[in-house]
Amino acid sequence: MSRIPIVAGNWKMNKTVAEARELVKLLSGGLGKISGVEKVLCPPYTSLSALSEMLAGTEIGLGAQDLHWEEKGAFTGELAPNMVKEFCSYVIIGHSERRTYFGETDETVNKKLRAALKYDLIPIVCVGETLEEYESNRTSEVVRRQIAFGFADIDPAISSSIVVAYEPVWAIGTGKASSGENANAVHAQVIRPALSELFGAENAQAIRIQYGGSVTAANASEFFSQSDIDGALVGGASLKPDEFIAIVKSSQSSKGA
Ligand code: PGA
Repeated sequence: MSRIPIVAGNWKMNKTVAEARELVKLLSGGLGKISGVEKVLCPPYTSLSALSEMLAGTEIGLGAQDLHWEEKGAFTGELAPNMVKEFCSYVIIGHSERRTYFGETDETVNKKLRAALKYDLIPIVCVGETLEEYESNRTSEVVRRQIAFGFADIDPAISSSIVVAYEPVWAIGTGKASSGENANAVHAQVIRPALSELFGAENAQAIRIQYGGSVTAANASEFFSQSDIDGALVGGASLKPDEFIAIVKSSQSSKGA
């Protein structure tokens, strides 16, 4: 089964609209030349409108960093799925920063995932263990639970559009990336089998599983050369144009695209 790699830049809470436009100008030439990889930029909400105009007609996709599951109503500060869909094709769900700082749970992740799929958004769903869980050898148990509850009640027929991002929390923003081998073992021995239980082996084979956590141009190919790592969710390095372009490029060459 060949899966098209997908590399997404999670800009987190960085860049005003003017700065976001500037960054896209610096990225678009280099990214435009790279084929065989799905490329996605996830700026803050405020830049979605401007960037959707800049990226229209290009092969660079746009994603939001979150969404709410309700369709409308009294939810101050939130964005409904159809509002995200006005500008985006992708949406990040359940990032560990949202789980840690904003009280997201496997249950809210599940509601958001089902809402995203209903609106034909491609969800990038984050899972991963904390340092404490990693050190007590609980990675498999934690990630299995996040998938069993977070991905419950999804029609297997539409499951293959889901993208999973395995992001060990201890590797995010720390400069201490997982090794390619360690991440691949979680992808191949924990995540894909858990997806297979829910959606069947064939659908699970089609689901892309990204690695995220301190990915840089220097370590990217270590991840992309692994059998079950189908791209990356990139934080800090996605704000540096040359670095992000180099990461996307190495995902292309490693899969022989
Ligand atoms: P990082 O962040 O690349 O800065 O470690 C990754 C993420 O949070 O998605």
